[in-house]
Amino acid sequence: MNTVQFIPSELSFSIEKATYKWQTPSNIALVKYWGKRDPQIPKNASISFTLNNCHTITSIDFVKKNTSSEINFELFFDGQKKEAFKPKIAQFFDRIKSYCPYIFEYDMTINSENSFPHSSGIASSASGLSAIAMCLLNLEKELNPKLSTAFINQKASFLARLGSGSASRSIEGPLVVWGNHPEIEGSSDLFGVKFAHKVHSIFENYQDAILLVDKGEKQVSSTIGHNLMHKHPFAEQRFLQANENLSELSEVLKNGDIDKFINIVESEALTLHAMMLTSNPYFILMKPNTLEIINAIWSFREETGSKICFTLDAGANVHVLYPENEKEKVNKFIAESLSKYCQNGQYIFDAVGFGAKKL
Ligand code: DP6
Repeated sequence: MNTVQFIPSELSFSIEKATYKWQTPSNIALVKYWGKRDPQIPKNASISFTLNNCHTITSIDFVKKNTSSEINFELFFDGQKKEAFKPKIAQFFDRIKSYCPYIFEYDMTINSENSFPHSSGIASSASGLSAIAMCLLNLEKELNPKLSTAFINQKASFLARLGSGSASRSIEGPLVVWGNHPEIEGSSDLFGVKFAHKVHSIFENYQDAILLVDKGEKQVSSTIGHNLMHKHPFAEQRFLQANENLSELSEVLKNGDIDKFINIVESEALTLHAMMLTSNPYFILMKPNTLEIINAIWSFREETGSKICFTLDAGANVHVLYPENEKEKVNKFIAESLSKYCQNGQYIFDAVGFGAKKL
């Protein structure tokens, strides 16, 4: 695998002081990444919708320093110094330092905020790390103006992946594939690539309502979860299945077979949780209300012919997916019939988005 391309050769270090600010989104996987090996290489390819409203805004102030022996940064979240988040970011910088030698040259002050509520159970690592990656690439572009936008996006995704695998899918949109897949040209284990084909109009501006079932701290970190796939009795079969599901889904996205879409997406969500149920140690991340919502979605689909479906990430929250032409009907259904299963009645209406934005 060629990672040398991401080691910069021509940097001028002409900049004394700079601030860059980026907004990057969360994403929701349709085919799930669950299982990896070092260094952050996925065991199967995954694909996600990039979101729009759920995002992180991060600015980094860079101030040139006199010595370049160590990496120095301060971290603020919602205006407050956040020591608790520092180890994860320090580990991220350590993983990327050979690709971003300039982080030794500057004192960095990182200011970050999320558009979604605190500890909502919505993973912030994808949007959080992709936002830092874009700020770093912004500096790199200033230090080497020859860099193309395509390279910048690719390297940002490459860096973000080293922080959190799913973050590699949060640079571009509306659909991003991460992980080498024989049928997806250009796909790579190293970075996410935009799904290159024309997508059927039914999937344009697809809606995602995130139902906040349980806002508690995650019982199991995703890193521990991924590690449980190492000795998992069904792991190899799962990785094959995910790659097959991606082959099928990529046809579905082109031909608009929405019933097949629903089948693949819901099966992926339940399989992800089945992997957790059947690992050792085993765990259950769904809550009773997760199941209430799933059953209510199935009844609604049965009764109304709606094309609504659900997916889950590694938690109890439910992502409700539906085409734009059903927005009015489904939003009403969510408010009237599903919100009662949400903690404090909270849910977030989101839709597919297009990736990182410079502010
Ligand atoms: C269930 O990207 O959070 O959301 O690479 O350890 O940071 P790390 O894991 P992370 O795993 C995400 C898992 C998932 C499925 C997915 O987004 O594909």
